Amino acid sequence: MRKKLIGFRCRRMLHFEPRKYMKSSYHPIWKGVNTDHSSCQTSRFRLESWSMEFFVFTLLPEIFPPYLESSILQRARQRGLIDVQVHNIRDWTTDRHHVTDDEPYGGGGGMVLKPEPLFSAVEGILGPQLDCPIILLTPQGRVLTQDVAAELTGHPRLALICGRYEGVDERVCEHLITDEISIGDYVLTGGELPALIVIDAVTRLLPGALGDPDGAQDDSHASGLLEYPHYTRPAEYRGWQVPEVLLSGDHARIARWRREQSLKRTLERRPDMLESAQLSENDRKFIDLLKNDKTT
Ligand code: ADE
Repeated sequence: MRKKLIGFRCRRMLHFEPRKYMKSSYHPIWKGVNTDHSSCQTSRFRLESWSMEFFVFTLLPEIFPPYLESSILQRARQRGLIDVQVHNIRDWTTDRHHVTDDEPYGGGGGMVLKPEPLFSAVEGILGPQLDCPIILLTPQGRVLTQDVAAELTGHPRLALICGRYEGVDERVCEHLITDEISIGDYVLTGGELPALIVIDAVTRLLPGALGDPDGAQDDSHASGLLEYPHYTRPAEYRGWQVPEVLLSGDHARIARWRREQSLKRTLERRPDMLESAQLSENDRKFIDLLKNDKTT
């Protein structure tokens, strides 16, 4: 049965036939990802102490499983660190044609996401209290940074609304949405990739999500600096050597080298970050040295 359905999907994709609407829970792409609309209240019991639930609302639910079923996010879900429910906004339409968008009042190009299915979807899944951040992914939002990702880990549940078309009806922003997040100053065709990026950036900060318990601490941006360069075997490749210090076994020297490389990279690539980074007296002396080197 599954084989037949998958074959059908491939044929449709190859011939670029219009997408047919299929209620999300029946869609053959769903395997491990939670689409059971009734389970959201109980699923926390399966989760561990520091765990998070993400409720995604989208018109393109099929985008999510491949990423959520890979690598670190897959492992985090299996370990009960995160639970992700992906809901198709179209499931909450009530008209025959399952319409989710309409022309903007006042004219102009593009289509606008209607308020009714969005309110129904979010209230239907989260319940009337709406007691978690309800985040719209939009280029108009505050920019996602490492600090914003860390802040979001403070919430046990997050709802992520993926915009499409020109935008969503402003009444959704005024009366449903509690936060708006952008992943950068460029415009994508929808909020699905930004939602996955938020889930990824937040999940890897949860204790136990990365193999190395300190893994997230050294990340670029985590300390307010860009990360130092990494090398692995072989020690020489096409005549290019790994820096000698990294082979020395001298941990203090290695730590100093890494810190200096971090400072150097940040100065070269993102000098703006140095203004808010936590710098020691030695860091500042090193940066002054680099600046003087450049001017001489
Ligand atoms: N939707 C479209 N572009 C986006 C962006 N840059 N960030 C978040 N959501 C978006």
